[in-house]
Amino acid sequence: MSPAATREFQHEVGNSGIDADHGALARILEALEQVCDESAGADCRCDVCPEKKTRSCHGLLKDLCGRMQALLLEHFQREHELMNSLPRSQTTKAHCERHRRAHVGFSTRYNLAAAKLNDCQPAIGARELESLVLDWIRGHALEFDAELSALLNRPVGDRQRRA
Ligand SMILES: [Fe+2]
Ligand SMILES: [Fe+2]
Repeated sequence: MSPAATREFQHEVGNSGIDADHGALARILEALEQVCDESAGADCRCDVCPEKKTRSCHGLLKDLCGRMQALLLEHFQREHELMNSLPRSQTTKAHCERHRRAHVGFSTRYNLAAAKLNDCQPAIGARELESLVLDWIRGHALEFDAELSALLNRPVGDRQRRA
């Protein structure tokens, strides 16, 4: 992930738990770049690398993919608990339904991508996994997580008046 992409992605939404999880996710995305030190070339051809190196890249990719999967699960769970703590209103109900659906949809996409990694060239698989998560989380954080944080940060009296 380029430094500019990292900065953009790490734009904080204003909730310490959510922001800490997003930071941890950004670190895993950065680590994905260590899967290939470019010896596979610009076109990511792992077949030009020694087999031992390809195996080691594959092992690292699988490890990072598993860590990211666990982190995403934990993170979504945290956000669902935060949603459960919101006062009930039409606004919060609509937000929670859309937000939960977005998590479920992305979990399915991620699991499908993770299952395909067994047969991939690790240099290509790492770039694809990185783009999948980065593209999704950028939009999701702005559209949903920032809104959740704003709902959580509304003063109690304000929440009740607008509920
Ligand atoms: Fe979210
Ligand atoms: Fe999030």
